[in-house]
Amino acid sequence: MAHILILGASKGVGLETAKAALAAGHRVRAFARSASGIDLSGDELERFTGDALDAGDVARALDGVDVVVQALGVPVRDLLGPVRLFSDATNLLVPAMERAGVARLIAVTGFGAGDSRDAIGLLQRLPFRLMLGRAYDDKDAQEMRIRRSGLAWTLVRPGILTSGAATGRYQALTEPSTWHNGRIPRADVAAYIVGQIAEPSHAGRAVVLVR
Ligand SMILES: NC(=O)c1ccc[n+]([C@@H]2O[C@H](COP(=O)([O-])OP(=O)(O)OC[C@H]3O[C@@H](n4cnc5c(N)ncnc54)[C@H](OP(=O)(O)O)[C@@H]3O)[C@@H](O)[C@H]2O)c1
Repeated sequence: MAHILILGASKGVGLETAKAALAAGHRVRAFARSASGIDLSGDELERFTGDALDAGDVARALDGVDVVVQALGVPVRDLLGPVRLFSDATNLLVPAMERAGVARLIAVTGFGAGDSRDAIGLLQRLPFRLMLGRAYDDKDAQEMRIRRSGLAWTLVRPGILTSGAATGRYQALTEPSTWHNGRIPRADVAAYIVGQIAEPSHAGRAVVLVR
């Protein structure tokens, strides 16, 4: 069983990943600024209040962990302003992991980041740029920093996230020619991440996840 640090564990994919990892028997350090409010229980859960942009918080949180899941997100209301969270947090995280000797990083970015930008359908391109352009430019920088690292990384690029239970019926697409957008429950993204902790078959790969 692994000791997992989840950055962004108070909501969304990070919270679902914490749930799924605990259910699989892992130890979870659940990191967020609002970690004290995380409504999960279990002896293997540690709530860790911290800011992913604070070097001291990140260094302390890395102590003794085997795997890092980076699942940070920006509220919708902030998407139209400048976005630096993804790249700034990653520029801090990657060297901190290298110093701490933690090699495995699973980072949630999104369909449309990096070289999956070319797979966005023609009709979606303009609305995607208008709504998400700033965030995805920053996710591009995040992905580039991770690729430049010596870590055993996986870039997880879900399509449109939905709520609800895991279905187990999703595709993990590694071939660029197969990449397309689609919906996927956060709980399925979490199941994929926990699967990659047990068996890192997609280390060094960028993977699009859709139903
Ligand atoms: N929505 C979609 O359809 C979609 C599609 C593809 C990809 N994505 C990406 O998938 C990822 C997960 O999205 P989501 O909607 O599931 O998550 P989310 O609800 O946006 O959750 C974001 C998490 O990040 C944490 N966080 C933000 N800033 C932080 C900081 N400075 N320090 C520590 N923690 C911080 C938040 O906790 P605190 O606020 O408590 O710190 C929260 O736990 C995001 O990167 C998103 O862009 C989303």
